[in-house]
Amino acid sequence: MDKFIIRGGKSLSGEISVSGAKNAVLPIMAATLLAEGRSVLTNVPSLNDIKSMAHLLRVIGARIDYSEESLKIDAKDVCFPEAPYELVSKMRASVWVLGPLLARLGKAKVSFPGGCAIGTRPVDLHLMAMEKLGAVIEIKHGYIHATAEKLIGADIHFENVSVGATINAMMAAVKAEGITNITNAAAEPEVAATAEFLNKMGAKITGVGTSHLIIEGVNELFPVGAEMIPDRIEAGTFLLAGAITKSKITVTNCIPEHIQSLIDKMKQAGCKFEIKDKSITLIPAQKIKPVNMIANPYPAFPTDLQAQFLAYMCLAEGSCSIEDKVFPDRFMHVAELNRLQADIRIQNKVALINGVKLMSGAPVMATDLRASAALVLAGLAAEGETEIARIYHIDRGYDHIETKLQGIGADIERVSS
Ligand code: UD1
Repeated sequence: MDKFIIRGGKSLSGEISVSGAKNAVLPIMAATLLAEGRSVLTNVPSLNDIKSMAHLLRVIGARIDYSEESLKIDAKDVCFPEAPYELVSKMRASVWVLGPLLARLGKAKVSFPGGCAIGTRPVDLHLMAMEKLGAVIEIKHGYIHATAEKLIGADIHFENVSVGATINAMMAAVKAEGITNITNAAAEPEVAATAEFLNKMGAKITGVGTSHLIIEGVNELFPVGAEMIPDRIEAGTFLLAGAITKSKITVTNCIPEHIQSLIDKMKQAGCKFEIKDKSITLIPAQKIKPVNMIANPYPAFPTDLQAQFLAYMCLAEGSCSIEDKVFPDRFMHVAELNRLQADIRIQNKVALINGVKLMSGAPVMATDLRASAALVLAGLAAEGETEIARIYHIDRGYDHIETKLQGIGADIERVSS
């Protein structure tokens, strides 16, 4: 198992580039199952989650060629509509094959995903949407068995905003007969990117990027080529790396409007920005003002940047509170940040942070993907050496993060133990 050794307290400078968005690539990979032929995705990051999804698609019968930021998926011979436990338990996003397999083959058997470090994470909304479209769902021996002779357009209203359920519903509805209305849909850029990819394949989805999607079913979809959008969470993590070390840096190959909510919060903390079409230069606050924050669905502050922002607030001059309305228990990073001598306590699912002057390096353990990123940020700012164990979590979602951070002057090293 690899670990990171970070010698903190160093200033960063220069440009750091953002890779393609994992959370857009994963559903788009599932969407390629809808067409008989070879789709080509570019600007694909090199990540373990992408490899896991590629493995699953191979099991289902697709042929995959993954090299040099490009992913070729030939879904001509898709014939085995099953997502086995070993793969779903490794990566929840596997559940995204449900909608496309139902639409393409009329059946799917997908292992019921378990909980994970950030919460219980049910799939009831995914299943409700499939049932509304006419599928029959049975849960047996830990598996979701879904069948549908024919999918028929329906009105689907989500009680809670769910990225995963919106995408699954959309991927099934594109081939359903008639019109589907999805209300209270997730409007995250990754949902919009998936919808745009489906439209490129020949689907008819309107309202893309809003909370009301209208889908007119079509008989056939076609394989296409498409460039993946940049990863807004990686971009935000890098901006916070600059901010927490009080360093001027430029984040390139990003879409600034995708992280407007973060930029707004960082401005409240005292940061300034020079924003261009695809790059953001951060002029950091030298005195960090405390800022309260509540993570909520897009366009509000993303839950996937909550841990990293919380790490930043540990060095604010004063106190603030942070809540996560998407995953209310997502605070596994707090105990580890406190090991670095941050001062945070959780009260009624709210993190109360008293800013400290300096954090102090220590051995810590990564518990999930974004929590690991928060520990890296804290380690960059902390005095002395921070050793982060279990960084396989970070390798799921950040493409060579240590190499990228070294490029802007960070003293971070990967060590195999
Ligand atoms: C996706 C992202 C994840 C991000 C999350 C929220 C991927 C691979 N993952 O996860 O990084 O943190 O969106 O932006 O893209 N819920 C239900 N029933 C359901 C589905 C969800 O109650 O059937 C709840 C969840 O428990 C959670 C909330 O809805 O409280 C939002 O979850 P959801 O948007 O579905 O997250 P994911 O799609 O799993």
